[in-house]
Amino acid sequence: MDKRTFLKRAALAGAALPFSLSALADRLARVSHHPATALATNEDFWTGIRGGYRLKPDYINLENGYYNIQPAEILDAFIGHVKEVNYEGAYYMRTVQFERKKAIAARLAALAGCSPDELIITRNTTESLDMIIAGYPWKAGDEAIMAEQDYGAMLLMFKQVERRHGVVRKTVSVPNHPASDEEVVAVYEKAITPKTKLLMLSHMVNITGHILPVRKICDMAHQKGVEVMVDGAHTYAQIEHTIPGLDCDYYGASLHKWLSAPLGAGILYVRRDKAAKIWPLLAEPDDTTTGIARLNHTGTLPVHTDLAIGDALDYYQTLGPARKEARLRYLQQYWTTKVRDLPNVIVNTPVEPTRACAIANVGIKGIPPGDLAARLLTKYKIYAVAIDSPAANVQGVRVTPNIFTLSTELDELVRAVHELAGA
Ligand SMILES: Cc1ncc(COP(=O)(O)O)c(C=O)c1O
Repeated sequence: MDKRTFLKRAALAGAALPFSLSALADRLARVSHHPATALATNEDFWTGIRGGYRLKPDYINLENGYYNIQPAEILDAFIGHVKEVNYEGAYYMRTVQFERKKAIAARLAALAGCSPDELIITRNTTESLDMIIAGYPWKAGDEAIMAEQDYGAMLLMFKQVERRHGVVRKTVSVPNHPASDEEVVAVYEKAITPKTKLLMLSHMVNITGHILPVRKICDMAHQKGVEVMVDGAHTYAQIEHTIPGLDCDYYGASLHKWLSAPLGAGILYVRRDKAAKIWPLLAEPDDTTTGIARLNHTGTLPVHTDLAIGDALDYYQTLGPARKEARLRYLQQYWTTKVRDLPNVIVNTPVEPTRACAIANVGIKGIPPGDLAARLLTKYKIYAVAIDSPAANVQGVRVTPNIFTLSTELDELVRAVHELAGA
């Protein structure tokens, strides 16, 4: 067996092979003349990427929306950081802990295109956005806008500030298949009144993968004096964008999702002039701590995670954001185009390439989402998550490939959908 065949077979079998960042860079050097969209279809290249992961062979993992497991090399680096911090103990914590964290946060800010004094590391999107919702200087009667399609944790926090401060919640519903950006903007615009203070917006709807026209909604809201908080849980390191380009006021994301950082890492962005008015979750001395730093009092944390964020950034930036985005979009379209028009099949994700990337959602008439997910797993060894939300107009299974997903795995999904739909 030649080396190439060996590597390919081992990768398909789910064995993680030594795959250093320099090997990734070498591999990329050989395809550097390929535009990202051409490389997106090159199964040999992505089989090589797969080779850097240790994958459980029992199922095809199409539930990468929860979190993105780490390539073996990043995982090893993380374990190395755990050992390093344990070795140095309190000395590490009292000497370099904060400067290291700050340096990593500055790299995350650079990726987001914002200033380092506008972004902090948190544990996840929930912490980031709930900190804004809970710490906002609400007055009774103030209104906040959100959507049925937003993530549950933030919707719960808005319910809490409703009970606590008398905030009035206005919940809109975003169409799964809008005819234009303007249709989506209008949904939000209609909910704004003179009492509206804050509008929450998912950059990518987690249950359908729908990418919303955030910039246009921010422009509309700002014209009416309303601030916008963006949930970037699924877009940071999945689709290329900058936070200033969105022009939102607050933005949160989880780094254990698309950046493939270890579990329990996130970011919070607060536009420079807004930080002073948000009440911190954990108190800081107001007179000496200014800017977003006042929201960054955490207590003791697993600080080795901060260090591994740096390794995840190295991997993402070596691979290249454009290449990753193009591959993920290709994979989604690869399978959705094969099932979208089948009888009994409902794809709950927009067809336009600009309105979706990795994530899509598929339902089959007559099969409840929970049953569909169970049948995919037991009969076809495909792991995906059921979404059963009539309120959000989404009933189906969310399918989320990753960069280690191969088109042959999606062929299995397509076969399953054909059979289950009776097509
Ligand atoms: C859109 C969206 N926002 C927020 C979250 C919460 O992320 P975390 O649990 O990392 O805080 C998720 C998690 O899946 C999500 O999909």
